[in-house]
Amino acid sequence: MKEVRPGPHPTPLAIVEPEQTNHAMAFEKLIDVERCQPDKGTFVACNGVELAVFVLDDASRAVVLDNSCPHASGNLSGGEVRDGVVLCPWHQWEFDLGTGVCTHSDRAVVKTYPAEIRDNEVWADLS
Ligand code: FES
Repeated sequence: MKEVRPGPHPTPLAIVEPEQTNHAMAFEKLIDVERCQPDKGTFVACNGVELAVFVLDDASRAVVLDNSCPHASGNLSGGEVRDGVVLCPWHQWEFDLGTGVCTHSDRAVVKTYPAEIRDNEVWADLS
């Protein structure tokens, strides 16, 4: 995994290169839990897919969404998390962290990925 320095535009905290993934498994390691702020989003790019990674509930649960808001491509990893939703920082649409469905309209849905924490690492199935 390559370190990425923060910049003025959303920059992934971690970039997972294809050679670092185990293609025999559907799940891929995204990032160490300790690199994620509790109850906040972390921007991770994996094999060209931009993701918002959330470590919740005292680091017992991980949620992985597409990072791009379906409204106008806002950076969901920069959104505030509260009461099981993430607020898009651009226009404050809320998305349920369990389903990815917008709380204002079920026609707006952000893709979610099966995710879990294994040995203090966030893993997700991006297939
Ligand atoms: S871009 Fe996310 S609410 Fe508008």
